Amino acid sequence: MRNIIIDCDPGIDDALALILALSDLDFNILGIVAVAGNLPIQTTTRNILRILTLMDRLDVPVIAGYGNPLKREPVSASEVHGDDGLGNVDLTANPSIKVEDIEVEAFYHSMLCQHKDVEIITLGPLTNIAKTMMCYPTIFEAAKSLVAMGGAFDVPGNCSPVAEYNIWADPHAAKMVFKGFSEPITCVGLDVTRKTLLTPNYMEFIKTSGSPIATFINKALQFYLEFHWQNNRVMGCEMHDPLAVAIALYENIGKVYQADVDVICEGDAIGQTIAHKNGQGNVSIVYQVDRKKFLELLIGNIFPQLKEDLACMIDNPIYGVF
Ligand code: RIB
Ligand code: CA
Repeated sequence: MRNIIIDCDPGIDDALALILALSDLDFNILGIVAVAGNLPIQTTTRNILRILTLMDRLDVPVIAGYGNPLKREPVSASEVHGDDGLGNVDLTANPSIKVEDIEVEAFYHSMLCQHKDVEIITLGPLTNIAKTMMCYPTIFEAAKSLVAMGGAFDVPGNCSPVAEYNIWADPHAAKMVFKGFSEPITCVGLDVTRKTLLTPNYMEFIKTSGSPIATFINKALQFYLEFHWQNNRVMGCEMHDPLAVAIALYENIGKVYQADVDVICEGDAIGQTIAHKNGQGNVSIVYQVDRKKFLELLIGNIFPQLKEDLACMIDNPIYGVF
């Protein structure tokens, strides 16, 4: 089984990403680590507990990470994700799940000492990773890989004309990780996450599964869709984090180029990611993605019972739309 750690700031799209990862029992999820980002740390931690309850995965350890970025003032995105971080839906956490009593640095150190080939997926600001690097400078040499949702390289940002949220929320952490993380990094930025929208027809399609997971997803996405329509005039939901999980866990849905990545940490361009495209570099930046393959993975893995009908949605020989 593949050893996976997910570091996230749920967040509606983080929630779908967690549901995707938790749906595949081939993955040994060593832990889900909360970081402040979309919402404060108390909320993001609670939301991991809520999602594990929904998925009936009370076996997965939950770790509370950092509540503040390394240097800049904290930010939040409740206007995107709701005050509760999951679209203000009615979803309670099973009181039997407890947050692990361990500091985030000690958790990463322990997991990387105990397990081989640990794949780390970050879906929020990189604060926890940077703090662990500061505490244990060589510990990530024991990791297999890092896939990070973040950055905007050849497209506008979503927090400013140049900055993407996860980087903007903690630019000093991102700079440290992109420069100093010892293992291969794959960066899934807005360049591709805006190309894999989940549109209302697919939200309706998911409902036909009749499952409580589908009910939660649709309620949470209703809030998220409203934000996209009101603010971006797009009738669809950006699947930032689910795409990062899909690229991390399933092969061949994206194309990359190699670069070194720098991050602007001060001034009007704070959070901008600069790719030095020199054909080598330690960061694989995803620049192209197959939306059909992504939707098949996302919906087919969460709702296997829909796989047959999904094929009609995606490749309908008569209507040609999807
Ligand atoms: O810019 C999008 C990213 O910021 C996503 O991970 C979203 O959940 C927020 O964390
Ligand atoms: Ca996120």
